[in-house]
Amino acid sequence: MTTTVPKLVTELELPYLDTIGLERHDAVEAIREARSRHWLARTDLGFIVTRLQDVTAILRDQRFHSALSVIEGAPELEGFADREGRSESILTMEGAPHARLRRLVAPAFTPASANRLRPTMRRVVGELVDDVVSAGECELVADVCEPYPIPIICELLGAPPEDWKLFSSWATDIFRIFNNNLAEDLPLITRAGEELTRYVSDMIAERRADPRDDLLSDLIAIEQEGDRLSTDEMAMLAEAVLMAGTDTTRNQLACSVALFSEHPDQWALLAEQPELAPRAVEESMRYLGAVRGTARFASEDIVYRDVLFPQGTLVATSLAGANRDPEAFDDPDVFDITRERATAQMTFGAGIHFCMGAALARAELQEALPLLARRMPDLSQAGEIEWKPSNFGIWGPALLPIRFTPPEPA
Ligand code: HEM
Repeated sequence: MTTTVPKLVTELELPYLDTIGLERHDAVEAIREARSRHWLARTDLGFIVTRLQDVTAILRDQRFHSALSVIEGAPELEGFADREGRSESILTMEGAPHARLRRLVAPAFTPASANRLRPTMRRVVGELVDDVVSAGECELVADVCEPYPIPIICELLGAPPEDWKLFSSWATDIFRIFNNNLAEDLPLITRAGEELTRYVSDMIAERRADPRDDLLSDLIAIEQEGDRLSTDEMAMLAEAVLMAGTDTTRNQLACSVALFSEHPDQWALLAEQPELAPRAVEESMRYLGAVRGTARFASEDIVYRDVLFPQGTLVATSLAGANRDPEAFDDPDVFDITRERATAQMTFGAGIHFCMGAALARAELQEALPLLARRMPDLSQAGEIEWKPSNFGIWGPALLPIRFTPPEPA
């Protein structure tokens, strides 16, 4: 019997892949080139997989842990990550404690609970469009995408609508974690985190006394086999929902509309056939996803495909690469919202950290896109789209100037 001796990953001859600083189409090209040469590529910080099969396998392999814990564990963040009353984030938890939390919160994140918020979604996006539609042009990021998700998250949590500006400013400050300027930003980040935790803890106390039809009341009521969430865990979840559920959705909406602005026939088709909305969402998330990758590190020595990844090795998974993998999708570079969905797109990730808010995000996009297509016909770019720097984890247009045919004056 022959046994294969695993090869050490650092000794393999691999293509080098670096998409930082690359323009959007050049990044797709660089990934395609690396993917065609090998299933694995080298990066400045470690390694990256770009084929759907490997991206899925690494994300499902629980020996690989979330690399976000590396950011959260940074000495510069001391005082924020371990501030009083804060439980570890669901995004960085692993193993049994993570599984327990997901099991407990799953009933609150079903498509049915997302559907309850659809009337609010329609109202919020409708009002944002009302404000700009008569002009026949707008800057879609500031006018529609940025303000859209926060009132929905407020409604989900049960916070009064007048407080959405508070949530918005906490989210902006906490997102500074990713701006590479921790020395200056840390006081702001910590203050925002503390205020949010205090606000949510007060809300939880109110809901305990007076339950309502909202997420916090649902989380309080959940009990499985005598197990229930603590107040700190609920506060952490509220923070995770605010952090993971706002910038992602607004960037994805902007990515999707930017993409449609390059494909006017598909925009017209969506306006004509709003029932295509679910497919339009999946296809635009596949073609141009706002989360293009996520990273893991080997929590122990791991052998995968006969390659040894020593403990601590960083392995990025290219969700954008997987989404254009010709082994997984026919004509992967064609954007077609009538595509039969044989393979699921990967922009929500995979494995135990698969996006908990996927049903909510899908509903938000499924409500917004056909409404925009109907009310902003003949959409085209009114100037150059400015894209966020390519090293941003959550990425999309910074500026999306558009014009469209305004409604006839009444
Ligand atoms: C289009 C919008 C969205 C995209 C593209 C997206 C993408 C993702 C991805 C890729 C992950 C996995 C990260 C990893 O494996 O490292 C994730 C996790 C997560 N998402 Fe989303 N997300 C979106 C919207 C939302 C919304 C609306 C919510 C809130 C309700 C949300 C809550 C979460 C949470 C809590 C996690 C962590 C789950 C865990 O670690 O178990 N996301 N998301």
